[in-house]
Amino acid sequence: MIVLGIESSCDETAAAIVNDKKEILGQSLLSQEEHKVFGGVVPEIAARSHLDHIDEIIEHCIKKSGISLKDIDTIAASSGPGLIGGVVVGVMAAKALALALNKPFVAVNHLEGHALCARLTSNVEYPYLLLLVSGGHCQILIVKDVGDFERLGTTIDDAAGEAFDKVAKMLNLGYPGGPMIEKMASVGNENRFVLPRPLHNSGDCNLSFSGLKTAVRKIIESYAQDGNIAHTIINKQDTADICASFQYAATRSLCEKLELAIKIFKQKYPQGKDLVVSGGVAANTYLRSHLKELAEQNGLIFSAPPIQYCTDNGVMIAWAGLERFAKGYTNELDFKPRPRWPLDENAPKAAGAGGVKA
Ligand code: KG4
Ligand code: ZN
Repeated sequence: MIVLGIESSCDETAAAIVNDKKEILGQSLLSQEEHKVFGGVVPEIAARSHLDHIDEIIEHCIKKSGISLKDIDTIAASSGPGLIGGVVVGVMAAKALALALNKPFVAVNHLEGHALCARLTSNVEYPYLLLLVSGGHCQILIVKDVGDFERLGTTIDDAAGEAFDKVAKMLNLGYPGGPMIEKMASVGNENRFVLPRPLHNSGDCNLSFSGLKTAVRKIIESYAQDGNIAHTIINKQDTADICASFQYAATRSLCEKLELAIKIFKQKYPQGKDLVVSGGVAANTYLRSHLKELAEQNGLIFSAPPIQYCTDNGVMIAWAGLERFAKGYTNELDFKPRPRWPLDENAPKAAGAGGVKA
C-alpha cells in the first residue's frame, strides 16, 4: 500500500510518500520564510505561498520516490484544523490528483497526523497516552485507534508552542520562538527566576500557559527603566536565564499533568504501554528527556517522532492517511476543509459512508 500525503495547514508546504512497510519513499518540504519579519504566520501570505509552491513540492516528492503515479493507492491531505486558505490549497491539489488518477481521497485531521506519526517511526501500539504539543494545540489524549481519541486534558488558554513563541517575541528572539528559547536555555540558569505553577491544584489534566507568559512579561518589564517592554535592554546571560526558567516551568507543568494522566490511562487501559509526545514542541530535547524520565518512572515506554517529524511535515499526513485507508476510511471529493476539527469529535465512518464530513 502506497500513500501520498500533502500538508499545507500552516507555514510548511510539504508532501511525502510512505508505504505500509513503514518506508518513507520520498518527501519534500518548504518552510515559508516570509513570516519571519512579522513575528508570526500571516494567513494570507501563507495561502499565496502554498499556492505558488504546492505543485513543485508534490512533483519533487514523486520524483525523489522513484515511483510512478499509477502505483500510488490513495492521496491524503491535511484537511484541517488550520489556516483555511492554506488547507484549501493542499486539499484541492489532493482532490485534483485523486480525480485525475481515479484513486480515493483521504481527509486527514492535521492533529491526527501528529498523533499517529510515532507509530511510523517507533513500535507504538494502541492504546497509548499522547501529549500533543504544537503551535496551536496542547492536549493530553488516549489514542485508542485510528480516529478514536479520548481527551483527558487541554489548555484553557494558550497552546504550549504559542507560549514559547510569545516569550521569544518579548525577548526579540525571532519566529518561531521554540528553537531559539531552547538554544538560549541550554546556557541559562533555570532556577534564576521562580515562575508560577499554572493549575497546579486543579485536580484535572488541564493546562494553562498564559499566566506563565504574563509572569515572564513582568520580569522583562522590570529591566526597562520606564516599565515599557519595548525599551528593555537585557544582556545575553539574563536572556538565557529567563529562557531556561520559562522552559523549566513549562516542562514542569506538562510533566505534572501527565503524571495524573498516566494514572488515569493505566487504570483504564492496564495493557497500554506507551507514552508518546508529538507536535512542534516535541522537538524540544529538554522536554523529551524529562518525559522519557517520567515514562520510565511509571513503567511506560517513551516514544517521540525524530525531531524533523515533530514540526509540520508531509510524512505524518501520508502515514495517517495510510492508517485510515487501511481501515477503509476514505472521503468523498466534496469534503469541505475544516478550520476547526477537534480530534475527539467523532469516530470515523467506513468507506462509502463519506468519512468524517463538515
Ligand atoms: O506542529 P507545528 O510545526 O505547527 C503547528 O501545528 O502548530 O508546531 C510549531 C510550534 C511553534 O510554536 C514552535 O515554536 C514550536 O512548535 N517549536 C518548539 C521547538 N521547535 C518548534 N518549541 C519548543 N522547543 C523547540 N525546539
Ligand atoms: Zn502541526
